[in-house]
Amino acid sequence: MTDSNRFQAIISHSKEYGFIFPSSEIYDGLGAVYDYGQWGSELKKNIRDHWWKSMTQMHENIVGIDAAIFMHPTTWKASGHVENFSDPMIDNKDSNKRYRVDHLIEAKAEEMASENREDEAHALIHDMEQLLAKDDFDGLKKLIINQNIQCPIGKSANWTDIRQFNLMFSTQMGSVTDDADTIYLRPETAQGIFVNFLNVQKTGRMKIPFGIAQTGKAFRNEIVARQFIFRMREFEQMEMQFFVRPGTQMEWYEYWKAERMKWHLSLGVQAGRYRFHDHVKLAHYADAACDIEYDFPIGFKEVEGIHSRTDYDLRRHQEFSKKKLQYFDTEINQNYIPYVVETSIGLDRTVMMILSETFLEEDLSTDEKNDSRVVLKLPPMLAPIKLAILPLTKKDGLPDIARSIMNDCKSFFRCFYEEKDTIGKRYRRMDAIGTPFCVTVDHQSKEDNTVTIRYRDTMLQERIPIDTIKNLVSQSIIS
Ligand code: GAP
Repeated sequence: MTDSNRFQAIISHSKEYGFIFPSSEIYDGLGAVYDYGQWGSELKKNIRDHWWKSMTQMHENIVGIDAAIFMHPTTWKASGHVENFSDPMIDNKDSNKRYRVDHLIEAKAEEMASENREDEAHALIHDMEQLLAKDDFDGLKKLIINQNIQCPIGKSANWTDIRQFNLMFSTQMGSVTDDADTIYLRPETAQGIFVNFLNVQKTGRMKIPFGIAQTGKAFRNEIVARQFIFRMREFEQMEMQFFVRPGTQMEWYEYWKAERMKWHLSLGVQAGRYRFHDHVKLAHYADAACDIEYDFPIGFKEVEGIHSRTDYDLRRHQEFSKKKLQYFDTEINQNYIPYVVETSIGLDRTVMMILSETFLEEDLSTDEKNDSRVVLKLPPMLAPIKLAILPLTKKDGLPDIARSIMNDCKSFFRCFYEEKDTIGKRYRRMDAIGTPFCVTVDHQSKEDNTVTIRYRDTMLQERIPIDTIKNLVSQSIIS
């Protein structure tokens, strides 16, 4: 299967089996916005819980917060987002209409594809992406002119130069629609941590070095948003800001690089599918930065960023708020603005990474018959359902035994009870959503209190006593 077919197969599978749906699909969806279904939301929650535990429970000096999505508008001036967080756009001089450059070019590519000029359409999108990646606005304008792209309304090709367009979504707070009421949907969760730095440090009696972690929604009006949940307009981040003494940031940067890679490997992903990508061109506030990239079916792409952000954010918030954001270090008897090492991972991208890593179409054909299965080989701790309990028939008291196993286990981990269809079909449905263990209750269970357990990955089956099920599953899901 080619990578692009594999990517399409993962998207279709996610929809067919209740993981991820296009948002408001009955109205034909909303660009780059997705909803998580019954199993996708469980998978996402399990990843989020694993991250939260590894940050807060496993590090004595890291605590978590849950800051609001809306923040005082000055936050985004201080952080630099009002000024710098932007993408290219272009105006038509005749119609006075403004367009996002990618939308115009994509519409042209769609027109080409509808005229059976698929190769040209692909080449156009490819060229656009290359130019966008380089911020080459002159090149993008040339592309628009050379392709004779016209204003969809006025049909003229009389374009202005390309200018930047801010990626933040804004809205109005209160009833008066003047400028003072414009607030933004946060484009990153990090600023909620920075503005609470002193609140947490003082109330938690935290001593440097310490970290503040947070998970939550972030919003960006993304310009290129065509890669499923890789680039969304509403997405979720899991971020941690680690506050350190100035001068020690490089040690901590290296520490967090190693620590985060350990976490990634704990997800059961093969080491060879990850790589570090060091940033050559650093943001003005950073003195070191890298990405952890994963080898998606769409190529190696960023899942997480690790940034040494100096004291830039706290210093800017101190300046804009006129409130001191300093720490008195009793070990060296000095007041200073701490430096920060940030780890920032996209939860949706992690979901996409886990689906890419574990989605398999296995050929099970034998000489006698053709057979195959689709399976998600999820690590048990991440699987939406840990245990499926399947009575062989609906009669002879088998459902009663199965229900009693369910009652015994359901407060410890997520179980699923099912009576309908043949056992083979039920196993396949559980494979497709990544359930690691199925137990079948049959007539022998009535005789000797045992069940058949079937292991998803090997498909091996064995008999085990009913009273060992809970422990076996519980042991497998400890993170
Ligand atoms: N506070 C730092 C920060 O926000 P970033 O590299 O812009 O850094 C961090 O974002 C992570 O958030 C990325 O590595 C990615 O996993 C995720 N992310 C960013 N934009 C995203 C988008 N539009 N859709 C999904 N995930 C996104």
